[in-house]
Amino acid sequence: MSFGSRLNAIGKWIPNGRRIVDVGTDHAYLPVLLVQEGKITGAIAVDIAEGPCAAAQRTVDLYGLGNIIEVRCGDGLSVVDPGEADVAAIAGMGGVTMIDILEKSKAVVESLERLVLQPMNGAELLRSWLLQHNWHLHAEDLIPEGDKLYEVIVAEKGQGEKQLDDVYYEVGPLLLAAHHPLLAQHIKRLMDRYASLLIAMDNSDDAKHSEKYQEFLRRKNKLEELYYENYSS
Ligand SMILES: C[S@@+](CC[C@H](N)C(=O)[O-])C[C@H]1O[C@@H](n2cnc3c(N)ncnc32)[C@H](O)[C@@H]1O
Repeated sequence: MSFGSRLNAIGKWIPNGRRIVDVGTDHAYLPVLLVQEGKITGAIAVDIAEGPCAAAQRTVDLYGLGNIIEVRCGDGLSVVDPGEADVAAIAGMGGVTMIDILEKSKAVVESLERLVLQPMNGAELLRSWLLQHNWHLHAEDLIPEGDKLYEVIVAEKGQGEKQLDDVYYEVGPLLLAAHHPLLAQHIKRLMDRYASLLIAMDNSDDAKHSEKYQEFLRRKNKLEELYYENYSS
């Protein structure tokens, strides 16, 4: 069975020989993929909802991996004890939910060596939270799948840069430094998102004169500057 290019690309950021906790595991495809690749020695597959928990258990049983992957139903890392996992993977949910999960289980988070995060949105909030909570950005990646572009943020324990310019929280400082091959597409998408928000706000006088409007405009202009600095020929 193929687990898809996104999960494969996320899995590359899990170091060999570790025990992982996959939060929001849904069908437990990521842990199964990693066990099949011989990358991990154990996994806790966590989901908050009953349906996904049952689906995860079915996948684990189907592959006969119940001795290596344990499915736990619960909220985030609340069902994990410190020291049970070395690395947490959290993929396919919003950045704010991820922050909530990390905030709620400080002792477990403190015991992890790496976080592999694939937020669906709010990546800028997540980067900011990480830098403020004794994590540094170890790597960043962009994964194309269908017409989507997914961001991966790999964080490791320890202080790096504490503060970044706003625009780097959004774009990803390591994607920018590495001139990731999909960086232009990524920046354009961010620019387009602000352009659409501004167009929607243009319909209302109140919205147009709000601080939010000015903030979105400032962000869009900064992204444009960055884009043309890097990609004007
Ligand atoms: C879209 S799925 C992503 C599945 C998989 N991680 C992936 O990337 O393909 C999101 C899953 O996260 C689960 N989820 C959302 N909030 C959660 C939380 N606080 N704790 C555990 N699971 C959560 C949902 O129930 C859902 O199954």
